[in-house]
Amino acid sequence: MKNYVKISNIIKKFNKVINVQGDKSISIRWALMASQAVGKSRAKNLLKSEDVDSTLEALKKLGVKVFKNKEYCEIIGKGLNSYNLKNNTIIDAGNSGTLARLILGLLSSINKSIRIKGDKSLSKRDFSRIIKPLNIFGVRFKSKKNKLPIIIKGTKFLRPIYFEERKGSAQVKSCIMLASLNTPGKTVIKCINSRDHTERLFQFLKIPLTVKKLSKTYQLITIEGKKQYNAFNYNIPGDISSAAFFIVLTALAKSSKIIIKNVNINESRTGIIDILKKMNVQIKIKNKKLINNEPVGDICVKSSNSLKAINCNSEINSRAIDEFPLIFLLCAKANGISFFKKIGELRHKESDRLKICSNFLKNIGIKTIEKKDSLKIYGNPNLKIEKKFNIKNFMKDHRIFMMSCVAALTLGGKFKINDKNSIKTSFPNYILTLKKIGAKIV
Ligand code: S3P
Repeated sequence: MKNYVKISNIIKKFNKVINVQGDKSISIRWALMASQAVGKSRAKNLLKSEDVDSTLEALKKLGVKVFKNKEYCEIIGKGLNSYNLKNNTIIDAGNSGTLARLILGLLSSINKSIRIKGDKSLSKRDFSRIIKPLNIFGVRFKSKKNKLPIIIKGTKFLRPIYFEERKGSAQVKSCIMLASLNTPGKTVIKCINSRDHTERLFQFLKIPLTVKKLSKTYQLITIEGKKQYNAFNYNIPGDISSAAFFIVLTALAKSSKIIIKNVNINESRTGIIDILKKMNVQIKIKNKKLINNEPVGDICVKSSNSLKAINCNSEINSRAIDEFPLIFLLCAKANGISFFKKIGELRHKESDRLKICSNFLKNIGIKTIEKKDSLKIYGNPNLKIEKKFNIKNFMKDHRIFMMSCVAALTLGGKFKINDKNSIKTSFPNYILTLKKIGAKIV
């Protein structure tokens, strides 16, 4: 099968109701937590994607029983610190930073050498951010320049830690939280706000946890370790980071409407909605409910014909962290100059998204000023492109591929977009869903 798509037509007016696949962050967390519960846990609507498959394969390597069919996935856990594995076991995290970083938290209490490896993109990413706190717990690592492959050697005698997390990284926070599960006493994390799915799961499972708001940006999380929890059933909501492609597509399309059903609308993830509202996009959330301690709702969006530029408040950054490529694209069509600050973390994702997006916009005729930690975008509401583009995606970054499709479907031009297979990591049904609303893609 070919590994690219060709798009030469702007999407026609649409009015549709769609679903997106299950949330990636929650799917991975469910599987990891279920693997140390006692008994059989079952999840419905677990994301079927390569990142989640890598998670299930990793758990199998740790001796955990996993069963999957079309409707659900079951994991049979034997309790805290119950993994059964040989010395020198190898775990392949594929493209998933979330899996690699979170599972290292769970492996901290195993007194064996375990090797974690990943694909080309993941092997370029920084692991010092989790090595530092885990070292304080008493865990030892071998690596070159804090990059994968990494060998972890944990200990049965983990010490509880106090740690300050200053990047606003949910992966770092969650890695520490998972290590604390097998650590006696109180682990305390002072952290910048970031997605709180792990905290919500801990609360759902009645694992002793307190969260204290310290300021607008900081929280203090305290976990009492070594408290066993039971198996649990769970419904995974739709992924707002996948819904985001359809939100921005609709905002940029002509006279269209979309309803995206059953999406996770956890406040720590809805930065895109707040940013788009400020840019004059009409978005409403309907049918709000709380399912398994996560808020869920239907997102309704209408096309906008007067997009406003934004001077983005950096406090929102972590709430929209994976959506910036799409937000930048929207700014290309907005009236005025948009400005984003303290967004250096975008350089440490599946690819350097700050550089790639800035170059992408320049390529389609938009002036940008890219600095180490910020981006300025000179919007053009009359932007129409006619050229031919061949979008290369060297790090096979799924979100860059999907954002490029939104650009091609709304701005004109003739696009060949490479590395279609990258969507398998987070949203394998993406092209199918685009076609459902009328996109012409070959
Ligand atoms: C994630 C956290 C974010 C996000 C990633 C998923 C998670 O990363 O970019 O796609 O599931 O915890 P950081 O923790 O590095 O910000």
